[in-house]
Amino acid sequence: MDKNALETSSDHQAMQAPAKVFLHTYGCQMNLYDGELVGRLLTQGGFALTSSIEDAQVILFNTCSVRDHAEKRVLGRIQTLSGLKRKRPGLILGVLGCMGQRLGEELREIAPEVDLVLGPDAYRVLPQLLKEKLDGGNGHHFFCAGDADETYGDILPQRREGVNAFVAIMRGCNNFCSYCIVPYARGRERSRPVEEILNEIRSAVADGFPEMTLLGQNVNSYRWGEADFPDLLGKVAQVDGLERIRFLTSHPRDLGDKLLSVMARGGKICPSLHLPVQSGSDRILERMGRGYTRAEYLKKVAQLRRDVADLALSTDLLCGFPSETEDDFGRTLELMEEAAFDGAFTFKYSPRPGTKAAEMKADVPEEVKIQRLERIIDLARTLADHSNKRMIGKTVQVLIENPSPQDAAEWTGRTACGRVALAPGPYRRGEFAAIRVEEVRGFSLWGRGQLETN
Ligand code: 5AD
Ligand code: SF4
Repeated sequence: MDKNALETSSDHQAMQAPAKVFLHTYGCQMNLYDGELVGRLLTQGGFALTSSIEDAQVILFNTCSVRDHAEKRVLGRIQTLSGLKRKRPGLILGVLGCMGQRLGEELREIAPEVDLVLGPDAYRVLPQLLKEKLDGGNGHHFFCAGDADETYGDILPQRREGVNAFVAIMRGCNNFCSYCIVPYARGRERSRPVEEILNEIRSAVADGFPEMTLLGQNVNSYRWGEADFPDLLGKVAQVDGLERIRFLTSHPRDLGDKLLSVMARGGKICPSLHLPVQSGSDRILERMGRGYTRAEYLKKVAQLRRDVADLALSTDLLCGFPSETEDDFGRTLELMEEAAFDGAFTFKYSPRPGTKAAEMKADVPEEVKIQRLERIIDLARTLADHSNKRMIGKTVQVLIENPSPQDAAEWTGRTACGRVALAPGPYRRGEFAAIRVEEVRGFSLWGRGQLETN
């Protein structure tokens, strides 16, 4: 064969040192998972990942849009890189993910330093676009929205070290809660085939991950053929070598009796549930378009507490939504106590352009929002502390992860219910240790290893 015929531009590139890419991901677990998909697409495409901005020929931010603050942080970071871009004109700066999709072409004006913008369904084209840009083909393809049916079925994420692997079972969201940008940034809901999910899980288990977290914006609306989410859980639980299964996020409206009974049976399915309530006021829940009332939510919580042994229940709370009165807010505080949340993520409302709520009158002053946020944070902390203290004296199974950053002689891991636990080592990553809880330190349980009797 004519040797020259082989010297295509990609062969030529493969012979050079791979271009180095610095990739930083912001935001939720789904975005972290997407960052792992991007990592795989890049390495498969002949790039090398680097943790040093100075070394990189390409800098990518995989971004979040859920609150204005998340976007401001990225824009601030981009601005600090403009000096570096001037010094190194060949440097490529890309914005990926939700903010990329939301702002698209607008980013040309908002952040002129940016060379490339891709939405969450467009990561596949990244290696090719980067190659074109590195070869000097600048100016083309600034923004790409990708394919609305994309599920990245054939791409195995390049996972970071640890014991827990994220696995997306679906992408997008159809709920259109009135405050939320996610359906606009991540598109319509689509589920992945059962077999594809199982294969990804088997491969993660083979790579040494004993725990899976199944991800979706609303896992309860998963459907593939005849299989719904509880059916999928049943199949995942049969994967050999898999020890623990978690999932995120459940919409309270769609959490049915079938899932409840699967959770009640326990086994590999961890007794932890994230069930965002957002508000305790029926009037506000209605305006948010959440599709349940306070009473319906509390009824599900009561069923869960009754049926799922040692359940740790966490939630998301959103204060300062348009028209929220002190009375509405008081209902949220009451609900927090009644549900006795074991953990909570707390947010102050941030209007997102294009959503229904952004058109409502923003009548809660910023100082009031801040003050309400402080009040829910305080209560959430007190409830979490009570919940942790109830664990004192119990023996918990901890999946060991890392030496503690504060004291290398102590190891950290998580209990089945998702609490962080600390114990004097030595241990090995990935082993299960029976630990008797002696005290609560900060928001972690502290105890000593027990010799198992059974
Ligand atoms: N402002 C503040 N918080 C928000 N969230 C979603 N949209 C907004 C917004 N516009 C919160 C909700 C959601 C979590 C992921 O982020 O509580 O459950
Ligand atoms: Fe946003 Fe509601 Fe979808 Fe959650 S369920 S991502 S809050 S629209």
